[in-house]
Amino acid sequence: MSESLTTSSPLQATAVSPAADLETPLKFAYWVPNVSGGLVISTIEQRTDWTFDYNRTLARIAENVGFEYALTQTRYAASYGADKQHEATSFSLALLGATERLTVISAVHPGMWHPGVLAKFVITADHVSGGRSAVNIVSGWLKDEFTGFGLPWLDHDERYVRTEEFIDALRGLWTQTDYSQSGNYYDITDFTLSPPPLEIPDRAHPEIFFGGNSTAAQATAGRVADWYFSNGKSLEDFPDNIAGVLASAAAEPRRAPAKPRFGLNGFVIARDSRQEAEDTLREIVAKAHRPAVEGFANSVKEAGSSTKDGRGMWAESSFEDLVQYNDGFRTGLIGTPDEIAERIVAFKKIGVNLLLTGYLHFQEEVEHFGREIIPRVRTLEEELARANGTELNTDLLPETGLATA
Ligand SMILES: Cc1cc2nc3c(=O)[nH]c(=O)nc-3n(C[C@H](O)[C@H](O)[C@H](O)COP(=O)(O)O)c2cc1C
Repeated sequence: MSESLTTSSPLQATAVSPAADLETPLKFAYWVPNVSGGLVISTIEQRTDWTFDYNRTLARIAENVGFEYALTQTRYAASYGADKQHEATSFSLALLGATERLTVISAVHPGMWHPGVLAKFVITADHVSGGRSAVNIVSGWLKDEFTGFGLPWLDHDERYVRTEEFIDALRGLWTQTDYSQSGNYYDITDFTLSPPPLEIPDRAHPEIFFGGNSTAAQATAGRVADWYFSNGKSLEDFPDNIAGVLASAAAEPRRAPAKPRFGLNGFVIARDSRQEAEDTLREIVAKAHRPAVEGFANSVKEAGSSTKDGRGMWAESSFEDLVQYNDGFRTGLIGTPDEIAERIVAFKKIGVNLLLTGYLHFQEEVEHFGREIIPRVRTLEEELARANGTELNTDLLPETGLATA
């Protein structure tokens, strides 16, 4: 966490990686708060609500100010005080009905769904929404959700074997007729889903995001995911994950249509002064709900520490990190709008394509981020592209409602 508090400009200090795509504008997503209790395990005030009414307004704010994606979490049981949860796919569908431009990514667990049933569900969501449905395939970490439902709880790496077959099946059923696949977990025989997903330019099928940090997760993402999503990471640490995914993508023929793209989680604390932002971070941690954070840490041992090389998600997380349960403080999006914009563009330089963001007060802060930070990012992205002999492709910028607001 302390890495976020350095004072030199991260943009200037960071070299452009060969993995960086300087022409394509960064994309922005936010975590849908469909789980009660907000995004930090702390008794600090969080003006965020998990209800649909709150989320409908939030989604409309987000698409209006330049967010392209929202990510709905999947959770069936309380684990750290998140005692109420709305189901991800139905909630996402409702948000799609309430918005016009936002792509809503629904998290789903292989092991809870059959890939054919999910493929069919997403095709319908895609038609209903004009091509704005996407999935985040998560392999699971909360053992009680599986054992409580009487479902098998697989070993860590075996969960990724199942996930990989699951993604193959989704993609196959979305893109082929008379599709067949045989494996350890799914057998599909001569199956055609009709209608197929909508045909959208530059999209082979609804996008497949994939969340995970371990070596097995990186390898699977490299082979089959459109997007690799990571927990929060510093500028120094995330290149390792990118390299791991790209190495896997290069090692064998990739079974996804385009090269992997990279999404990174970050918890945003944007305030008028850096001091104020840092004070807010300190207050979040000082007011952490200690038993809940410790309970969460115990649950995630199932996901991280149980991997063979100890490199799972949360394997290196400190108590402070876990107060934002997806390591969002590590990304260091904490400071003034100028500082945060600089840091975000430094992440672009190492190969990040999308920032997944969380906040204390979602409606107010998503709006503030869109109005104050995204425009600063765009200016810096244009400068960065020019300094490297290319241009930012502004045709790819999302439409917003800001000009007419
Ligand atoms: C961006 C992101 C979102 C995730 N969303 C969920 C979720 O909604 N529900 C869930 O059970 N796990 C979620 N996970 C965690 C994964 O299910 C899985 O436990 C984790 O990727 C295991 O990581 P490991 O292989 O690094 O140990 C998410 C992970 C990331 C990176």
